[in-house]
Amino acid sequence: MPLAAMPSASSFLSRCRPTLAVAVALLCAIAAASSAAGGGAGRRGPIATAGKNYTRVCDPARFAALGLDASRFRYCDASLPYADRVRDLVGRMTLEEKVRNLGDQAEGAPRVGLPPYRWWGEALHGVSDVGPGGTWFGDVVPGATSFPLVINAAAAFNESLWRAVGTAVSTEVRAMYNLGHAELTYWSPNINVVRDPRWGRASETPGEDPFLVGRYAVNFVRGMQDVAGGGCSAAAADPFARPIKVSSCCKHFAAYDVDAWFKADRLTFDAQVQERDMVETFERPFEMCIRDGDASCVMCSYNRVNGIPACADARLLTETVREQWQLHGYIVSDCDSVRVMVRDAKWLNYTGVEATAAAMKAGLDLDCGMFWEGARDFFTTYGVDAVRQGKIKEADVDNALTNVYLTLMRLGFFDGMPEFESLGAGDVCSKDHKELAADAARQGMVLLKNDARRLPVDPNKIKSVSLVGLLEHINATDVMLGDYREL
Ligand SMILES: *[C@@H]1O[C@H](CO)[C@@H](O)[C@H](O)[C@H]1NC(C)=O
Ligand SMILES: *[C@@H]1O[C@H](CO)[C@@H](O)[C@H](O)[C@H]1NC(C)=O
Ligand SMILES: *[C@@H]1O[C@H](CO)[C@@H](O)[C@H](O)[C@H]1NC(C)=O
Ligand SMILES: *[C@@H]1O[C@H](CO)[C@@H](O)[C@H](O)[C@H]1NC(C)=O
Repeated sequence: MPLAAMPSASSFLSRCRPTLAVAVALLCAIAAASSAAGGGAGRRGPIATAGKNYTRVCDPARFAALGLDASRFRYCDASLPYADRVRDLVGRMTLEEKVRNLGDQAEGAPRVGLPPYRWWGEALHGVSDVGPGGTWFGDVVPGATSFPLVINAAAAFNESLWRAVGTAVSTEVRAMYNLGHAELTYWSPNINVVRDPRWGRASETPGEDPFLVGRYAVNFVRGMQDVAGGGCSAAAADPFARPIKVSSCCKHFAAYDVDAWFKADRLTFDAQVQERDMVETFERPFEMCIRDGDASCVMCSYNRVNGIPACADARLLTETVREQWQLHGYIVSDCDSVRVMVRDAKWLNYTGVEATAAAMKAGLDLDCGMFWEGARDFFTTYGVDAVRQGKIKEADVDNALTNVYLTLMRLGFFDGMPEFESLGAGDVCSKDHKELAADAARQGMVLLKNDARRLPVDPNKIKSVSLVGLLEHINATDVMLGDYREL
């Protein structure tokens, strides 16, 4: 039986025993008092409104700058449950406003106080620069700590190391957020099982063993998301209300381990996978990432699985991820995977509206897309027509938005998160983080065996090593930082 007996939320419960509650409440009170006393001096946040920058949506000064009164918006009432607040927010929006927020470059709805939000962030082995408007390097944050590539970190077989790296990365994100250099949602880690080690992107994933890949995912995600003590709110026992430090995403779901191989390319590859292999190999790390890591996001992949595009597969997205594994978060497309159903998978004969409807009905909440023939992502381009033509219901749109806004609420995007508000430039590339990166590299170095001394590496005899080759390979300081440093 696949994992029926795996502990799921139990690990959370053990972190949230009542005995902790008093200490947590105290910590939170101290944090809140110090942040109030500090007044947030020097912080500017990524939420730009009327010429000023803010760290939280529901800042009364921000609403005043929009000519609005925050106290009249129930979604800003921090005493209410997140679910009620999200219902209030979504309920205030017109269909057109809703649909403008179904893509990765969400436009917000200024009329009701909602700012734009850039969903796309990457932090595979350190925060990466995705360009202006998202998470970016420059001025006070010239770069972030670059940890070893995942395949190397995984080779350390050290769960506390993986978690420590996730914790360091999320601390750098929160510091950069305070400085207006980062958003709070990251599409990492990459946990595709590398069936063939020659796959071009092998360095991005933990490896070929589903269990190792899954344990890596659980620990990295926990490091990224966990708020010490399980968060400040008594509502934290509700998994949809539990605070998260930074949102982490299990990608790319599923059976996505062919990129460019003979005549196959990732956009149209149809992975033919038997049920048993699907459960034991390709789904297993995702199941662990969601059930035990409690990741707040899953990304579906470009390819098809047994003929069905992964991002339009209700069995994968709704039945498996959301119902069986109980995802507490949102499902996002890989960038352009809805468009791929029209542009590349021509045999489907889908129009933009049909691809949009198929993906949303299957369980996709957010569409990441690039410009193509004048259209950005498909959800924002075709969503209104899809509803008007009866291919989806407005309730489907509401449901998708509910999943994305609950995630942003849990991140403190609306209310702030006092625990992290004192972080600043000194917490990015700190001495500790650089030492952790060096330690991770040391821990991951392996020479499994050297039978019959085939490699002449007797440390008693060899005192220096020379590397021979093209100069750019010897001195490839940028290349060696690996993928996902800048996009
Ligand atoms: C707001 O942030 C933007 C982007 O970081 C920056 O260019 C601008 O100067 C900031 N404005 C203020 C008033 O700090
Ligand atoms: C695992 O990594 C942590 C964090 O770097 C380190 O403190 C610990 O010593 C490592 N454990 C082993 C067995 O090497
Ligand atoms: C797509 O259209 C072609 C040509 O009309 C047709 O042969 C094919 O069966 C259609 N495919 C699907 C999935 O409906
Ligand atoms: C190696 O690269 C660094 C950084 O790009 C550069 O400063 C240095 O001159 C290079 N060294 C050689 C020998 O090319």
